[in-house]
Amino acid sequence: MTNTATTFTLNTTTTIPAVGFGTYLISNDDAKSTISAAIQAGYRHIDTASGYQNEKTVGAGIKAGLQSAGITRKDLFVTAKLWPGNPAWGDAPKTKAQTLDECDASLARLGLDYVDLYLIHAPYGGDMRLEQWRALLELQANGKARSIGVSNFNESHLNEIKAAGLPMPDANQIELHPWSQKPDLLAYMDQHAIAPIAYSSLVPLSTWRTKEGQASAKTDEMKAAGTTFRDMAEKYGVSEAQLLLRWGVQNGYAVLPKSMNPDRMRQNIDLFSFSIDDTDMAKMATMDQGDGVAWATGDPSK
Ligand SMILES: NC(=O)c1ccc[n+]([C@@H]2O[C@H](COP(=O)([O-])OP(=O)(O)OC[C@H]3O[C@@H](n4cnc5c(N)ncnc54)[C@H](OP(=O)(O)O)[C@@H]3O)[C@@H](O)[C@H]2O)c1
Repeated sequence: MTNTATTFTLNTTTTIPAVGFGTYLISNDDAKSTISAAIQAGYRHIDTASGYQNEKTVGAGIKAGLQSAGITRKDLFVTAKLWPGNPAWGDAPKTKAQTLDECDASLARLGLDYVDLYLIHAPYGGDMRLEQWRALLELQANGKARSIGVSNFNESHLNEIKAAGLPMPDANQIELHPWSQKPDLLAYMDQHAIAPIAYSSLVPLSTWRTKEGQASAKTDEMKAAGTTFRDMAEKYGVSEAQLLLRWGVQNGYAVLPKSMNPDRMRQNIDLFSFSIDDTDMAKMATMDQGDGVAWATGDPSK
């Protein structure tokens, strides 16, 4: 039995589906059919970003998926992200005006009038970080983004917004799984009503990003990990991926699994027919290994 209606609170007027569909590393050749299939399989949240270079084909998939599933735009939650620039990569930080233009460009590529959530993808904006946040507040005020947030922000980046006296983000999308639990950051976010959205929940799978050209920064210890998750999953009669995703939703984090495979796509949204018992949750709570591994090129929180 699935429960795709389950949602978490994002702000006073918006909720976010507990399970969304990730679109990173989905090529333009595959995006339309994959996103359409995900919507038909029951996903009601599509997570994308201008940095994934596939917004146009993701948008085509959204349109096709809504039609095939017989639902309308308001039944779907769409997240898009500003690429903020990164001076360390010779990529000038976006100004406030450029941020407003970037959102318009993303909406045009996606073929949408608004997004449900617009995020600053990473805290790379340096001197422009607060200007970018001010632009997002404007986008929320003019209805182009129903809710707004950040991604890969640490406590000091969030405090910068607080110190400027600006409204805090509705959400912070961060890498979260049993090996990267970020308890201090989550406690801060909880105090400030910033909802956690978990990405790369499936990092502990031995098969995670092992294809040519898919870099990650897994440690040797992680690569040599034993069968703990597999053994636990067997106990509940679910897959290791379902166990890891259930860990996220059971902790109150919206999750964003990506899969190109129809069976795995269906499996990843089927998280509500079992729950992880207290003993196993306590065991998983001891497995934290610090910062995440999805950004192979370095710590995006710097
Ligand atoms: N804000 C950020 O900075 C940030 C960073 C990273 C990711 N994200 C978002 O979060 C989404 C998810 O993260 P992710 O793409 O890094 O990784 P993920 O969803 O944790 O893992 C995807 C990988 O796991 C495989 N997989 C999926 N379901 C499986 C299953 N049931 N059993 C076995 N293998 C399975 C996929 O292969 P197949 O496709 O072959 O099934 C793929 O190789 C992204 O797509 C993106 O939308 C955001």
